[in-house]
Amino acid sequence: MSRAFWFTKKGAKNVNPNPEVGEEETASFCEGSVLDFGCGFGRMATALCTHRALALGSWYLGVDIVPQRIQAVHKTHTPAHFQVIDSHFDLLGLSQFDTVLARSVLQHVEDDEIEDTLVSLTTAARTAVVVCEHLGREKWGKASFSYNRDFEAYDDILRSLGFDLSKRLEIPNPRYNNEPASLLQWTRHG
Ligand SMILES: C[S@@+](CC[C@H](N)C(=O)[O-])C[C@H]1O[C@@H](n2cnc3c(N)ncnc32)[C@H](O)[C@@H]1O
Repeated sequence: MSRAFWFTKKGAKNVNPNPEVGEEETASFCEGSVLDFGCGFGRMATALCTHRALALGSWYLGVDIVPQRIQAVHKTHTPAHFQVIDSHFDLLGLSQFDTVLARSVLQHVEDDEIEDTLVSLTTAARTAVVVCEHLGREKWGKASFSYNRDFEAYDDILRSLGFDLSKRLEIPNPRYNNEPASLLQWTRHG
């Protein structure tokens, strides 16, 4: 259901309800070139440019499975920096980026796809994977298009793929009674 949701009329237009939460902090966790997985309407592209005082360049690529989102972002940003993907497997055909970012995306990936998705993300990441989302399945329950996993669910897989947690920040979200969104950076070890 989760993936299918984004292709419905409602899902294609759905705007991340956490626009102001953690954009600047998320940008500060992203070093070097950035692959923005599930880039949506390009919010993090804007935040990264502001943070770096730099225009978009070959250091950034935003990808999303929903063509309407990429079409919309082409109206506000240079199209060359955004592309539609069919699935996370398409990342395997890209060159590596220093950081692979997934902001409010992995919580929407089904349980039976999360491991393969993280394999693709880590293959595309030269150095780091950055995730920002509300964690805690117990706390948030499972909505029809959201899984809100616990930290361990990501950490166990990423450690098995050679990545260790390197930075963590909790960002209170006024929209949800200040329940924090978690900003997490894992770095490739060795
Ligand atoms: C809540 S929005 C977040 C958008 C953006 N990252 C931001 O912070 O504003 C979730 C985005 O993830 C995309 N998405 C959902 N499931 C995905 C999947 N399996 N692979 C890639 N993108 C996905 C959706 O199309 C949507 O654009």
